[in-house]
Amino acid sequence: MNKSIIFLLFTLISFVFSQQLFEINYYQYEKGQCDGSQDGSGSLEACGQSSNIVSTAYAKFDECLLFNGGFSRLSLVSSNTVNYTVFYHGCDEGIQQSEIIEIGSCFANCQDQTAQNSFSISIIDESSVVIPNSNSFATIYYGGDCNGDWKSNFTFIEFMDTNICVNQGVYGSLMLSCNPNINQLTIHSYDTQNCENQLSATEVPLSLENCNFFNDDMNMALYCN
Ligand SMILES: *[C@@H]1O[C@H](CO)[C@@H](O)[C@H](O)[C@H]1NC(C)=O
Ligand SMILES: *[C@@H]1O[C@H](CO)[C@@H](O)[C@H](O)[C@H]1NC(C)=O
Repeated sequence: MNKSIIFLLFTLISFVFSQQLFEINYYQYEKGQCDGSQDGSGSLEACGQSSNIVSTAYAKFDECLLFNGGFSRLSLVSSNTVNYTVFYHGCDEGIQQSEIIEIGSCFANCQDQTAQNSFSISIIDESSVVIPNSNSFATIYYGGDCNGDWKSNFTFIEFMDTNICVNQGVYGSLMLSCNPNINQLTIHSYDTQNCENQLSATEVPLSLENCNFFNDDMNMALYCN
């Protein structure tokens, strides 16, 4: 076999076995994004620059997720639209809100008063997931055995940048810092934008094995690097 046939076979095999995921990028809060006509619109500038990204999440299709501050499900409706449904408690109990979001559009995220970072959703191949090896704090939900081995069975991963100021809305900002030696996260909270007036610094010990965190069989892994 020549090289191009081997390459073609390899590509086909990886296409068949590799799963597609949603990639969700969160951006710095943009002043005015939730005012008047901009509320919920898909035409914000906040999502325009990759340097504005404050965290990136990967989610499997149709799973129950703790996403965007609540229980929700993301499902593909068509090749370019996602059904984003938020539930009151768990993913079987009462629909709070359901929206159709266009792939690649900038979602203003104005419902939550405390964390209004806009986000955009795209679809990627599981093999393109980039696991940062420094300056990040990871939150992962995974099924199966609660042994910290999240790579084989995750439904959701979020990587947040540490040591950068994240403006979350008009009410404040936060900065994360990590001590990977003792696997501890510190959350610095501010009541102004741009991390100027610190309210608190909360130290959180992290573990890869927070068993049955929700839905009975969903475990949580938290780590810092
Ligand atoms: C979105 O999903 C919810 C929950 O499954 C469902 O009730 C709703 O009808 C869906 N909306 C659309 C437009 O598919
Ligand atoms: C993956 O997690 C699901 C529950 O979310 C579980 O039923 C399944 O057995 C797990 N698979 C593996 C390989 O651990």
